[in-house]
Amino acid sequence: MLVKNLLATRLGKSELRNPTILNSGYLGVNSDALIRAAKMGAGAVTSKSCGQKPRKGHPNPTVLQFGDVIMNAVGLSNPGADEEVPEILRAVQGAGVPVIASIFAESAEGYVEVAGKISKARPAFIELNMSCPNVQLEMGIPFACDSRSAAQIVEMVKDTVKTPIIAKLSPNVPDIASIAKSVEEAGADAINAINTVGPGMVIDVEAKKPVLANKVGGISGPAVRPIAVRCVWEISRAVEIPVIGTGGILTGRDAVEMFMAGASAVGIGSALHYRGNESFKLICSEIEEFMKKNGYSKLGELRLEE
Ligand SMILES: Cc1cc2nc3c(=O)[nH]c(=O)nc-3n(C[C@H](O)[C@H](O)[C@H](O)COP(=O)(O)O)c2cc1C
Repeated sequence: MLVKNLLATRLGKSELRNPTILNSGYLGVNSDALIRAAKMGAGAVTSKSCGQKPRKGHPNPTVLQFGDVIMNAVGLSNPGADEEVPEILRAVQGAGVPVIASIFAESAEGYVEVAGKISKARPAFIELNMSCPNVQLEMGIPFACDSRSAAQIVEMVKDTVKTPIIAKLSPNVPDIASIAKSVEEAGADAINAINTVGPGMVIDVEAKKPVLANKVGGISGPAVRPIAVRCVWEISRAVEIPVIGTGGILTGRDAVEMFMAGASAVGIGSALHYRGNESFKLICSEIEEFMKKNGYSKLGELRLEE
């Protein structure tokens, strides 16, 4: 008898064996790490955001964690698009699950250039990171905080490459649904919400200086989950395209909450810090257990009625 996979889901034309997706910036700085995440059970994997040129990122310390909060100001360190292409290609050939290549740039033309190069590696999606808050001291307010800029980038990238596009949005806006609508109208194939919240700041009062060398950093971890759930809920009611729900998901119950808010898949990052490399498998078995116990036969049934 054929056993039905309760966890199968779709993101546009890509079928996922399960709805857990490795977040950009976690593990995935090279092809080996992406392949390892797939072996650890991820349904899809996202690479660290890559830009036009090699970038060192911010000086250390770049990450801190206390309680339910993770703060980072990694500063988009990456080897640049030319070096990233063979890494993505190796991941596409070796991961056995869809590979999402994350990119960023400082202008719409920059996104077009990086997308053009990265598309040659044939990732399942290119994710446009337009929402990193820890580089705004140097790059200005993220493009995803402005409907017109976000839509323009999506439109120009869509005009250049055939690869399906995910727009990764920022929670740091008064009306995320209107930005989601704009990127959908501009041709985005999916949305990922959310990138980190803030930026925030933590001061070491004994040393009388900020803990992060960059002084401010984006906030993630379980503390931001209610913001992520609200964003996903607002976006899902505004658009038809699939939404990846990201932000502080540690357990199957957290993932179920995201599916109820309207997500088709969930981004997993913080969980790797709090629960380790088994996170994907644990979260999947917990979702499955919840569904069986409560009589759900597919993920779509979890969505709130309104
Ligand atoms: C150390 C670190 C590095 C990150 N790097 C990126 C990145 O390069 N690109 C990106 O789009 N998001 C990046 N993020 C944001 C995550 O992908 C995710 O959107 C956010 O952390 C919320 O999910 P989480 O609580 O599960 O980590 C980073 C987050 C952390 C903690």
